[in-house]
Amino acid sequence: MDETKRIGILTSGGDCAGLNAIIRAVVFRAIGSYGWKVLGISRATQGLMSRPPEFVTLEIEKVDRLLTAGGTMLGTTNKGNPFAFPMANGELVDRSQEIIDGYHLLGLDAIIGIGGDGSMAILRRLAQQGGMNLVTIPKTIDNDVDITECSIGFDTAVNTATEALDRLHFTAASHSRVMILEVMGRDAGHIAISAGIAGGADVILIPEIPYTIANICDKLRERQEQGKNYSLVIVSEAVRTEEGEKISSTDPFGQSRYGGIGQYLANRISTCSGAETRVTVLGHIQRGGTPSPLDRLLASAFGVAAVDLIAEGKYDRMVGWRDRQVMSVPIEQAIARYCVVDPGSTLVKTARGLGIYLGD
Ligand code: F6P
Repeated sequence: MDETKRIGILTSGGDCAGLNAIIRAVVFRAIGSYGWKVLGISRATQGLMSRPPEFVTLEIEKVDRLLTAGGTMLGTTNKGNPFAFPMANGELVDRSQEIIDGYHLLGLDAIIGIGGDGSMAILRRLAQQGGMNLVTIPKTIDNDVDITECSIGFDTAVNTATEALDRLHFTAASHSRVMILEVMGRDAGHIAISAGIAGGADVILIPEIPYTIANICDKLRERQEQGKNYSLVIVSEAVRTEEGEKISSTDPFGQSRYGGIGQYLANRISTCSGAETRVTVLGHIQRGGTPSPLDRLLASAFGVAAVDLIAEGKYDRMVGWRDRQVMSVPIEQAIARYCVVDPGSTLVKTARGLGIYLGD
């Protein structure tokens, strides 16, 4: 058995399916194989900022049933960058040192941070500033973390969006309508293109590829001429208007939110094609719920691998999935580039090969 370590684990950024499965795997490996102590930090870095630091001592019995549970038992937040933390009086204050002090107060030897690119960048900066031993695990339904082929939560979100299209098929056909499904994904179209192909969409719109309303309507007309009385459109939330305008709003916390491109398209498509059009905005349904078997597998593999990196004293690394294997890369490399859909990729070629309108 290795020397006894005391490690922390936190979930940061938007939740997704599979976070609890990662926590379970980390606890199983760290306690079951190495005999370490595992502290679950509450609400991302905010638990380390609190005094006393907020955490739960994790044990195998506490996480045993978590494989299928959605959300995160530790809580999370996608607000409150500690380097510019919004205070009650509206001031932005650098509270990074409080988090670093929290890590040392808890006597941690290392910490596992589960997050997307934004969270990983913040955690890495904290780790470098404060001598924290950090290993990260990529999670985000958006699948926009570079290097790894999949991030936790993506497969479940694609399953959910695909199921939504499967359901929309029937109602679209019954009413001879054009159904538009607006999905999440931030500035990348990974969810839309994957679910669009898997769910048999006729039009897939992603932020990476421009489109015209006229060409969408041509596609819908072509289907009508073939005797198909309905069509399915899937659109990523970050797709812009035909004129290139971003459709977003700012919430009361000052954060920008996408939403509304589906309704914009519905108005333009029904005017141009005369088709009766309806919109479904899938929203956070893509983030909640039971993780798919693939997300459970990846979560288990990533959790075990992250603990093993700590056992080997390899820090400042992100675990990932490539060529059917778990691997790890320096976090710096993983966050250097935002991973969008490559217009030359297999999925783009596949969609076009199937006759799906994907833009021009
Ligand atoms: O990054 C995950 C994500 O679900 C995006 O797809 C979406 O734009 C955003 O988070 C929504 O954030 P919030 O939960 O703050 O509404």
